[in-house]
Amino acid sequence: MILAPANDESDDARQGAGGPAHGVRHAAIIMDGNGRWAKKRHLPRAAGHKRGVDAVRNTVRAARDLGLEALTLYAFSSENWKRSEEEVSDLMGLLRHFIKKEIDEFIANNVRLLVIGNYKALESDIVEMIDDLMARTAHNDGTTLAIALNYGSQDEIVRAARSLAVKAAAGEIPVDAITDGHLAAELDTASLPPLDLLIRTSGEKRLSNFLLWQSAYAEMYFTDVLWPDFGADDLKAAIDCFVSRERRFGGR
Ligand code: IPE
Ligand code: IPE
Ligand code: MG
Repeated sequence: MILAPANDESDDARQGAGGPAHGVRHAAIIMDGNGRWAKKRHLPRAAGHKRGVDAVRNTVRAARDLGLEALTLYAFSSENWKRSEEEVSDLMGLLRHFIKKEIDEFIANNVRLLVIGNYKALESDIVEMIDDLMARTAHNDGTTLAIALNYGSQDEIVRAARSLAVKAAAGEIPVDAITDGHLAAELDTASLPPLDLLIRTSGEKRLSNFLLWQSAYAEMYFTDVLWPDFGADDLKAAIDCFVSRERRFGGR
């Protein structure tokens, strides 16, 4: 007979009790396909990114309407610096514009903004705007919008491991006592519910260094829709698909 390990965490606790009836407390999206959307229309890539911002606005509204506790959006990866200077500068310009334009709507709608990733390495005016927006929405308890900026999941895990190593070296936690819970608590996503649903647009089927740890038991949803065309109906379709899945968490 194989003895089951002591388990102080029920499936309910793992899945998180409560939340909306459809069961998606936290969805994340790899917003991909802006360049292809523009190319199809013989437009510059920047035009695709611009329309991508409209899709962000619509999707955040839809997430609120659908009762999601958190929506995490992959906006700029730690690898996206490989793009041309012009494209990076276009993306940063759109980010500045987005923050300035959306702040009132976030505050009016009780949205909490969280930025994950090494955003402190961005230009100083953007860092200031982000810190200000996070501080001003910190007490909002509606949907959390987490934006991944200069984000790489491996980098996030390394930063978390370093932080635990510092605590262990200072004698704050014995090395043998370190658990997955301790590591999760050091990740940028520590304040978010467990990830239920991971969506990638544009037909690509890879994670591209996004939420590797957090995706352990997330349901994956891939759609051919290009990000600028994504909207409330597409988010709803992903959630409907999630509802039809059977989550097992290693059980039977
Ligand atoms: C996603 O669209 C936006 C970012 C990565 C910033 P892409 O720019 O990757 O679009 P494709 O993949 O080239 O179509
Ligand atoms: C992932 O998309 C990053 C974001 C959506 C911000 P990419 O377009 O950069 O990913 P790859 O290069 O196709 O893997
Ligand atoms: Mg892409």
